Formats: sequence, structure tokens, C-alpha cells
Amino acid sequence: MRLLVRFVLPVLGILGILVGASSFLVSTTFRRWTEKDMALRAELAANGAREGLVHYWRDSDRAAMERVLAQITRDERMVGAAACGYDCELIAVSPGFPPGFDCATVGKSVREPGDAPGIVWKWKIWSETIQVAGGRFHVTAVPIFDRGQAFGFVTFVQDLSYADRRQSTVLKYAAAGLAFFAVTASLLTVLVARFSWREWNVEMRRLLRGGPSHSMRPEFQPIMRDLRELVSQIAVEAHTGPRGSAWTAERLRQTLRQKLHGERITILANRQPYMHQKNPEGGVSVLHPASGLVTALEPVMRACSGVWVAHGNGSADRDVVDERAHVQVPPGEESYTLRRVWLSPEEERGYYYGFSNEGLWPLCHLAHTRPLFRDEDWAYYQSVNAKFADAVRSEVDSDDPIILVQDYHYALAPRMLRDRLPRATILTFWHIPWPNSERFGICPWHDEILEGLLGSSILGFHTQQHCNNFLDAVDRFLEARIDRERHAIIQGGRATLIRPYPISIDCPSRWAKLVAPVAECRASVFAELGLPPDALLGVGVDRLDYTKGIEERLLAVEKFLERFPQYQGRFTFAQLAAPSRTAIERYRDLNTNVEQLAARINGRFERAGYHPIVLLRRHHEPLDVFRYYRAADLCYVSSLHDGMNLVAKEFVSARDDDRGVLILSMFTGAAMELTESLVVNPYDLRQASEALAAALSMPAGEQEDRMRSMRLYLTEFNVYRWAGRMLLDAARVRSRDAMSHRLVNHLRPIGRM
Ligand code: F6P
Repeated sequence: MRLLVRFVLPVLGILGILVGASSFLVSTTFRRWTEKDMALRAELAANGAREGLVHYWRDSDRAAMERVLAQITRDERMVGAAACGYDCELIAVSPGFPPGFDCATVGKSVREPGDAPGIVWKWKIWSETIQVAGGRFHVTAVPIFDRGQAFGFVTFVQDLSYADRRQSTVLKYAAAGLAFFAVTASLLTVLVARFSWREWNVEMRRLLRGGPSHSMRPEFQPIMRDLRELVSQIAVEAHTGPRGSAWTAERLRQTLRQKLHGERITILANRQPYMHQKNPEGGVSVLHPASGLVTALEPVMRACSGVWVAHGNGSADRDVVDERAHVQVPPGEESYTLRRVWLSPEEERGYYYGFSNEGLWPLCHLAHTRPLFRDEDWAYYQSVNAKFADAVRSEVDSDDPIILVQDYHYALAPRMLRDRLPRATILTFWHIPWPNSERFGICPWHDEILEGLLGSSILGFHTQQHCNNFLDAVDRFLEARIDRERHAIIQGGRATLIRPYPISIDCPSRWAKLVAPVAECRASVFAELGLPPDALLGVGVDRLDYTKGIEERLLAVEKFLERFPQYQGRFTFAQLAAPSRTAIERYRDLNTNVEQLAARINGRFERAGYHPIVLLRRHHEPLDVFRYYRAADLCYVSSLHDGMNLVAKEFVSARDDDRGVLILSMFTGAAMELTESLVVNPYDLRQASEALAAALSMPAGEQEDRMRSMRLYLTEFNVYRWAGRMLLDAARVRSRDAMSHRLVNHLRPIGRM
């Protein structure tokens, strides 16, 4: 069947078109040639017989003229000829001259009134193909002159049926020839393709089995490089864990032990995983900040141990640290060190609120907020990056440590760390999108940022597109060699690898293990929101950030209630919104807008005890968030632009009952992975409202199929794999660096001799 559709039908189609076109061409050309030929033959016959005819014409010897005419029409294709006089009267006719042709009719075409004095008629040779009594004939009339005197004309009638027969024979041969040609050409193409494919396969196998590289054909080199990388990656991954095992915390620990000799990991990230806050009523609480970065990296740190260097911004943070600003975390399960760095309010304003969040954040997100770049913010960004680089320097315990630099707050730190620790392995991960180079060029310090990041050994983004954008920016703004095959940038003899590492979560999540069963979560959340048991619940969980599309989400709920009124009074959307960056005006405006929007929509649809939108604007601890995930019928992630979005992944990981529907913005990195979600354009309110309706009416079986498939994916592609892949790449970079270091040390004494 596949052969029929892919090969036979297209060949037949093309053949049909070819045969049709060539028949048309052959028949029109053939007809033109035949008619020309017949007219010429009639003219020749008339010229050959002219002398005899004129002689007998003068003598009015009709019998002799008819003999001459019979002689010149002896050819089997010549049906007959007739001599017509000056006044178009019939004078003589050959045997077989068909009836229906009379001199008077032909005469109208062969002569016309003269247009000069003394010229009564102007004569010309005339010919035409005509259809008579089922047959096609070619008629030619040739005027007969002798020494300037016109006698009349001879009409020749020739049979065209033989030409038709010839034409159809030619067409048959042409069609057969074309068919033969088309089939042969197709077969040859298939054979060549098969042969090349086999050759390609053989070559690939040979090379994969370790064939000599000098015999590698040049066209195979790029793909070989990629393949080898992939194969060695798979081989290393297979080596670092028990056969067929998924990535887990334990496997990550083993990888660190085996491939990186148990090196201590130092993470530099602005947001700390635990924040100590003074309670108004006294005492201290420990909060888990709402941050995708923390969600992903905290389980990695638990597994690897080491030090997390971060800004200490909690009101009780200073009270709980030792003299080195260290505190052991997680509380009660101490497995790694949190090193807090203190910032003055001016530093925080310039570096965090200013350059990071009013400059780089809107620069990298396509969310219609204008980036603001101020000189004083840039100055703080530089000095605070240096401050954190110094803090990291003071935490590492060797001259070649492994340092994980996180996010856009530290674009300059990798270069600063490289200057302080030239042999360090620096893995930088950019958690937000990287814009295209036109947009990136808006930043007045684009060169410095690129130079800063190129201090890294490896620079990771969520998607290949962001990697490509970064490579383009370097190409455009810096003097550096770009090795596009290795996806590396070489500067001053040192390479920075640019790689996509789509971030993920700890799946199955430890919060999902701690939270109550689904039914209990549903009951408690419904009680909290005052919903009847048959209500339907949607959730959104975000920092209150304009990139998250929260306004568009609420508008989609409004459109949904408008278009599907049967859900009015039944569907409630709970928006868990953690206030974020409220020192920035744009965020304060967003807060007000969201509040007003929710109030307006509620005003439109509320009825006794029913408010379609529940806005929960406060910090929610992870267990609370998981309770809402598990209670909901759907979760809507409507980011206008998002590097990955871990809320989407968390919702899936929370649903161990395989129920609930995820609606996901197409502008998130997660949409490329969670393909069983309902992917929407959040700006398209109609489409989003339809997705809400589809989610609420989705049969249980379909929900289960989709959720199961996404959960399976996340179990495989979890955050341990994300970290593991980066650490394995780091191990390769380290062994390469160690080799060149040994070589340099070995050559140095020789050089001195
Ligand atoms: O999305 C990138 C990211 O750095 C997240 O890791 C984090 O959730 C957020 O942005 C930063 O938020 P905050 O400014 O509160 O640290």
C-alpha cells in the first residue's frame, strides 16, 4: 500500500501528464507538417502538368486534359483533380474526383477582384483541410498561368486518412517510449537511492565501529561528529548507571563520584533555596521561594551536596548563619551548605531590580515591556557580579573546582571567575530565553555580557533556538571563532561549548510524595474555596509577572464563560499568584490590573456564592501548591514567553492519579516536550476558551492517556538527567583540559633546556 501511494501513483500521474502533453504537441505538429506537405505536392503536380494542360486548354481538348489530370492523380493519396476555367466553370475532371467540390465554391477563395487598373482578378494558391462525409480531405487550388494569361485553376483533393493513421501510430510509439523512459528512470532512481543508502549505511557502520578516520569521506564528517557525540553520550550515560535505569538522585551522585571524582559542586544563583523570615508574632519561619530555578536545582544540590551561594534577602537570614554566612540546609535534613551574600539596598536596587529585572528580563522576553538600561544599574551589576565571584572563590576548595553559574543575574561572573580560577570548570545555565541578535543589540553593554558569559566552559540554554540566537549574537558583536559543527566558540585558544539542556523537575516529585491523596486534596481545596462537590476547578500558579500572561488567562476564562454559558456557576478558576519584584513599577501596575480584571469578570458572572475567579495573591509553600494541582480539573499555563516553565511540569508530576488536563502556551519551552497537553496561543482568547471547554469535557480515558504519557516522559527526562548530562559534558571538558595542562607542564622543562 505504501509503495502504491509513494511510488506507483505518483509515477502514473506524471506519466499521464507527460503522455497528454506530448500527444497534443505531436498531433498539432504532425498536422501542420502534413498539410504543408500536401499543399506543396499539389503545387508540384500542377507545375509539372502545366505545359500539357495549357496546350489542351487552348485546344479545348477536354479528353486530353482529363488524361493529364488522371496521370497526375495516380498517387494513392491523391483522390482526384479538376480543372476549373477562368469563370469558375468545370472544364475537366480526373476519375474519382469526389462529389461535393465545385469550381464555383473553390473559386471564391482562389481569386479575388483585382485592385489595379486592367487587373480583373488577383489569383493565389489556396489550401484547406475539410471534413466531408465522415472523411478528412485536404483541398489545394493552384492557378494556371501561361505567359501572363490566366486560364483558371486546378483543384486537387487529397485524402488525409492516411496521415491520421500515421499520427496515431506515432502517438502510440511516443506514449510507449515515454512510459518506458519514465519507468526506467524511476527504477534507476530507486536503485541509485537504495545503493546510496546501503553505501551510507555501510559507511556509517564502519565508522561507528571505529573505522580509520583517514578513509572517512568528507561528506560524512559533520554527521559523524554529531553521531559520535550522541553515541558517546549514550555510552557514558549507560556506563554511569545500572543497566536500563532512569536518572535518579542516586545515579547523579554516582556520576559525580565516578566521572568527577566526587568533586564538590558550587552553585551561584541569586535566589536562595531557603529563606528565613521573622514572623510578626515572633519566631522564624523557613520559606521555599517561588522560583523555577529553585524547583530544579534544589533536588540536584540535595543529591550532590556542596555549596549554594545566593543573596540572603530574608528578614531573619542573618540571624541563623555562622560567621562565614553559612547555614546548613535543608532544615532538618542538612546535606549541603547555603552561603549567603549580603547586599546593600542600593546594590539590590541597581543589580537585581534595575539591570537584571528592568533591563535583561524584558530584553530576553517578548512580552511587550520596554527594557530600561541605566548607567548606575550597570555599575551595580558589575560590582555585585564581582562580589559574588569573590564569594564563590572563597568557597571552592581546589584550583580546578566545578562551578554552576545560574541565570541572567550573573552574565559577568563566568569571566570574573575564569580570571580568579583559570582552571575551573564553569557551567553556566541561562534560565530565560535568549533573544535574536537584533533585539539583543538593544542592550548598550552587549559586548561585555557576551564576553562575560564566554568565561564559561559550557553555556547551556533550554532550547537549540536559544543556542542559535546566542551563536548569532557572538557572530555579530564579537571577534571570536565560531565552530558551528561543535557548537563552540573559541576565544584566546579556549572553547566555550554552547549546548541545549532542557531543564526539568524532580519526578516523581518529593512534594507529590508528601501531599495528601487526590480526593483529600480536592475536598480540602473545595472546602477552602466554598465550592460545591460538583464544581469544576481550574488553576494557575505563577509569580505575578507580566511574562506569565495572567491577564490573558483571566480574559480567556471570561471568553469561555461567555461562549459556553452552561459552565457559568459551575467553573471556578483559582489563580495562585506570588507577589514578585514589587519594587518595580511595571510589577505594581500588573498587580493592580490583575486585581481589577478579576473583579470585573467576577462582577459580570457572579451569583449567590459564586465567583468565577479566585485570586490568591500571596506566597504559597510547595505543599499548598501541590494540593491545588491535585484538586484541579485543569491547569492553564499561559506564558507570553517562557524559557521552559516548570509549573507545567510540576502539575503533571503532581497528578499520580493520571487525571487533569494541562493547557499550555505554545510560547513556553515546555510545549516542545509536553506534547500531550492542549497547546494554545494565549493571545488567541477564542482558541484558549475552546481549550478550556475541551479540557472540561475530556473523557476520563483520554485524560489518563495524555497524563500517563507526559508523566512517563518526565520520569525519563527529569532534573537529574538535566544535571547529569551537564556534569558528564563537564567531565569530558575536564579530562581534555587536564590533558592539555599535563602536556603544557611536560613541555615547559623541555622548552627551558
Ligand atoms: O525563569 C527564570 C527565573 O530565574 C526563575 O528561575 C525564577 O523563578 C525567576 O526567574 C526569578 O525570580 P526571582 O526574581 O523571584 O528570583
